[in-house]
Amino acid sequence: PSWEAARHYLGSLMWGWMFLGINAMLSVGIALLLLPMLEDLLGITTIFKLREVSTYHPLLRQLEEKAPGTYYHSLNVSALAESAAGAIGANAVLVKVGAYYHDIGKMEKPSYFVENQFTEEDRRKHSKISPHMSCLIIRNHVKLGIEMAREQRLPEAIIPFIAEHHGTTLLSYFYDQARAEDPHGTVSEADFRYPGPKPQTIESAVLMLADTIEAASRTMKLVGEGEIRVFVKRIINDKMVDGQFDECNLTFRQLRILSDSFTRTLRTMMHRRIAYPSMPEVERVPGEPKEEKVQPLFSRGA
Ligand SMILES: [Fe+2]
Ligand SMILES: [Fe+2]
Repeated sequence: PSWEAARHYLGSLMWGWMFLGINAMLSVGIALLLLPMLEDLLGITTIFKLREVSTYHPLLRQLEEKAPGTYYHSLNVSALAESAAGAIGANAVLVKVGAYYHDIGKMEKPSYFVENQFTEEDRRKHSKISPHMSCLIIRNHVKLGIEMAREQRLPEAIIPFIAEHHGTTLLSYFYDQARAEDPHGTVSEADFRYPGPKPQTIESAVLMLADTIEAASRTMKLVGEGEIRVFVKRIINDKMVDGQFDECNLTFRQLRILSDSFTRTLRTMMHRRIAYPSMPEVERVPGEPKEEKVQPLFSRGA
């Protein structure tokens, strides 16, 4: 009888383990099946969804094809933003993916953006139209980007990165040009600012900084860590003074950590630019304005 009891016990134990295994597999299976539906239904973006769109999505392939300069700019921005976000404990994966898509709206008219101007004809694009028109075209990449993201059903969490990455920044190059051409002084600054909103989250603010730093660094010949540090600090300061961080919770302490992180990443990038001068993202287009024209390029390139 005791042998019978032991056999019975072992048998039920085996069944128990088997059901445990089946249960585990079924639960994971059901969760994976339900997750995308729940994500859509509740508008939640999970890490799985983010990973899915961070591998070569059709929109990114299009961006690389139509606006290669913007594509490489976005990759660099994502590298800068991801480490900086990680350094302050913000959502680094979200910022990285947001950076990939932040400028997709430039695909419509790529050659109006400095990073895609490869020919002399491209570089003359803006001289043929009024500063007002230039400003409209440049500013429109934000609106177009949001529309594209919605059409392609990108995760909702990516939209704010497209919408807020310029905040209400002034397109100073075209603003100055319009003022110079207007004898009556009627040009309004508001007409030359991005419509906003300003960054609403720390993640969005990190992207804004990484974006500006990447675009501006292309026009600079930065040598040594000291110069890079001053350059990064100046950009952070400009954005802060312009009130771009007024609507998010960035602290001064976080700004200092961000500054250190951007300096480190940019130093590595600059080193790569020197070491491999033929890489597409590092190539300086012949005749591209150098140091003294940093200011204009802020508003045209980022
Ligand atoms: Fe942009
Ligand atoms: Fe950008």
